[in-house]
Amino acid sequence: MTLRPNDSLLPHNTFGIDVRCRLFAQYDSPEELHQLLTDPNSSPLRGRSGGGLLHIGSGSNLLFLTDYDGLILHSGISDIQRLPSSEPDQVLLRVGAAVVWDDLVLYTLRHGWYGLENLSLIPGEVGASAVQNIGAYGREAKDFIVEVECMNLQTAERRTFTSDECRYSYRQSIFKTPDHRGRWAVLYVTYRLSTRFQPHLDYGGIRSELERRNIPIDSLTAQQLREVIIDIRRSKLPDPKEQGNAGSFFMNPIVPRQQYEALAAQYPTMPHYDAGPDQVKIPAGWLIEQCGWKGRTLGPAAVHSRQALVLVNLGGAKGSDIVALSDAIRADVRSRFHIDIHPEVNFI
Ligand code: EPU
Repeated sequence: MTLRPNDSLLPHNTFGIDVRCRLFAQYDSPEELHQLLTDPNSSPLRGRSGGGLLHIGSGSNLLFLTDYDGLILHSGISDIQRLPSSEPDQVLLRVGAAVVWDDLVLYTLRHGWYGLENLSLIPGEVGASAVQNIGAYGREAKDFIVEVECMNLQTAERRTFTSDECRYSYRQSIFKTPDHRGRWAVLYVTYRLSTRFQPHLDYGGIRSELERRNIPIDSLTAQQLREVIIDIRRSKLPDPKEQGNAGSFFMNPIVPRQQYEALAAQYPTMPHYDAGPDQVKIPAGWLIEQCGWKGRTLGPAAVHSRQALVLVNLGGAKGSDIVALSDAIRADVRSRFHIDIHPEVNFI
């Protein structure tokens, strides 16, 4: 277990916001977390920390608005176990919440266990994959999650949520609803993978990129697909080590089909994806670009020049600078398209 009073949160948020917390604690096992939450003598949480309690992953989806006057908890549980499975093609993996997501993707592909390749290079840790239902290139974490083992941060009780109980949808889960938000620490996530590689190529520019590289689909390997996905991501998304950012800042809005059709008549080139029988998802990046924000700056914050869905810290930005930019963009999108776009990043 690691405890650090008055700790800098700079290494714990990819936006690069320079704030501090009252206490930072990392536990390395469910038992250590249990002890932290229940033993008033050894627990630094009760008397000393005051303020709030926030469980974080790698901070790739957070925007700190001020110093955090409370305890920041982080998991160090990073073991991976293969569980027995009755299906011959199926692989069940129980993975500690602190495993870095892309390390897991690489680990599974090296073992010949397939499914996660389209989710290559997404920043963050395994715990967040289950809270946020991370997704990219037509796949989402929910497609692979069997169950999520958690600990209640108030009572220290353990509970396992089946995938159905997690109520997954686009970037949503039970862990983000008002009744459950901030109540659970994810300990382990169990994923179902396959020993058979079945490529999913229908999203975005994957097929055209394969053609450009002369890779025939019938000989495509999972490793090649991973490399293509990584290259597409790198060509659009800034590296947080070079420029602070939290990936997509906004969620793509889902609008009633009628509203989409009215807009499509006016903007025939507007990209869109079906999101159910009566709903259509519209890329927020396109809406923001149409409003002229792509590449524009506001103080020390900016809209990334290659992907308008990403806001960046040009250096020394405070949380409020990013919020000012976000508010200006949202107002313009609302006034031009009558669509409300909502941050996917959590404001703390
Ligand atoms: N587009 C523009 N201008 C832009 C950005 C996008 O016109 O500045 C258009 C593109 O031309 C394309 C469409 O919008 O037609 C979709 O763009 P893209 O494929 O880049 O994906 P996205 O919808 O903007 C989502 C995820 C990303 C994920 C990609 C690929 C959300 C909020 N974001 O972005 O996730 O990598 O799809 O699957 O759903 C993240 O969550 O941090 C993230 C990067």
